[in-house]
Amino acid sequence: MDNLTAPGLSNSSGTPVSTPDPGFAVYVHWPFCEAKCPYCDFNSHVRHGGINEARFRSAYLAELDHMRALTGPRDVTSIFFGGGTPSRMMPETCAAILERIAQNWPLVPGAEITLEANPTSVEAERFASYRAAGVNRVSVGLQALNDVVLKALGRTHTVEEGLNALNIAKDHFERVSFDLIYARPRQTLEQWRTELSHALSLAKGHLSLYQLTIEEGTPFAALHAAGKLKMPDEEHARDFFVMTQEMCTVAGLPAYEVSNHAVPGQESRHNLLYWNMGDYAGVGPGAHGRLTLDGARHALSILSNPEDWAEQVLEAGHATETSEQLLAGEVSEEYLLMGMRLSEGISLSHYAALGGEVDYITIATLETDGLVRVSGDRLMATADGLLVLNSVIASLAG
Ligand SMILES: C[S@@+](CC[C@H](N)C(=O)[O-])C[C@H]1O[C@@H](n2cnc3c(N)ncnc32)[C@H](O)[C@@H]1O
Ligand code: SF4
Repeated sequence: MDNLTAPGLSNSSGTPVSTPDPGFAVYVHWPFCEAKCPYCDFNSHVRHGGINEARFRSAYLAELDHMRALTGPRDVTSIFFGGGTPSRMMPETCAAILERIAQNWPLVPGAEITLEANPTSVEAERFASYRAAGVNRVSVGLQALNDVVLKALGRTHTVEEGLNALNIAKDHFERVSFDLIYARPRQTLEQWRTELSHALSLAKGHLSLYQLTIEEGTPFAALHAAGKLKMPDEEHARDFFVMTQEMCTVAGLPAYEVSNHAVPGQESRHNLLYWNMGDYAGVGPGAHGRLTLDGARHALSILSNPEDWAEQVLEAGHATETSEQLLAGEVSEEYLLMGMRLSEGISLSHYAALGGEVDYITIATLETDGLVRVSGDRLMATADGLLVLNSVIASLAG
């Protein structure tokens, strides 16, 4: 069984606590999907003619070598294959990437290695091979437990196929999470209560529950603009959120972040590293990274078109488009943006150490309004605050 409790991540009672050194992670972006879902604005592409996977594999390995040259020796605490749909990657490619990561940077014992998977039968058949390659956690994109809804979301799997894939995942991986999208057009609170109860009965330690967002430039955005997609109003969205929090807490999977719920100790260590401002190297088209180089935190972004990315990496050794040193104010702002999403919130002394200005008058006003809570050195959003998180953060940032 994998080491489920990273040192410094949980205390003996399983309560998540902040870690002074969030570790070092590698993010691998696989940009291909079987079909483009109409709500999605991730860097994901459909290639009906297939891709030259051997060429892409070589490019990933080359880019990993480039990142190793930048970072120097670090101990890897987590790896995340995200997408797109990484479960469309041949297991050989996944194995080669993991092997190269381990050659470049030592992996800590029990390092968390997650792969995002779409739940079609073709992909579920590969789960055993991903496990053999070293993946020890999967995040399955179920999205809904209703066939009509899955069709409306443009998904290519049915509920039955999804549940079957989830069972296969549970057979092969110690740690399995799945994603659902809620607060969907025309969804009622009672329908979501039934669907979420079903989901909680299937959950194995971790669940990601996202409220549907309308992303600019997507087909859903066009439908929404034309009045053909009725989204829940603010009050209704709030009811969905509050009910979700309550049901998950009662089921023993409280939120540790706005959209992520886990049995204490089963939080995604990779996500926590992002939210706790750890360093991570991102490889693959459109990946982002945060690296401390020469003592300063840098934000890196990589070329997003997959074929252009492969060509450039194979020619020049990397396809980094931008690598910018973050100013003190930008680092503290990032900490505020990320940390306020967590149920444990931010450390005010760390925020100040990063150059952030702690505005006690604003904090007191937000506290009086019931939007934030202060506990010792920590500042966190209340349930009401999480519902208007962007404006809470804007007030705190001044
Ligand atoms: C990059 S997608 C990935 C995984 C995989 N390709 C899939 O679709 O199952 C990560 C998750 O983001 C969520 N997501 C994507 N677009 C969203 C949107 N517009 N609103 C809410 N959730 C969204 C979905 O739940 C999805 O599982
Ligand atoms: S939601 Fe997942 S499967 Fe759908 S287009 Fe986005 S990345 Fe691809």
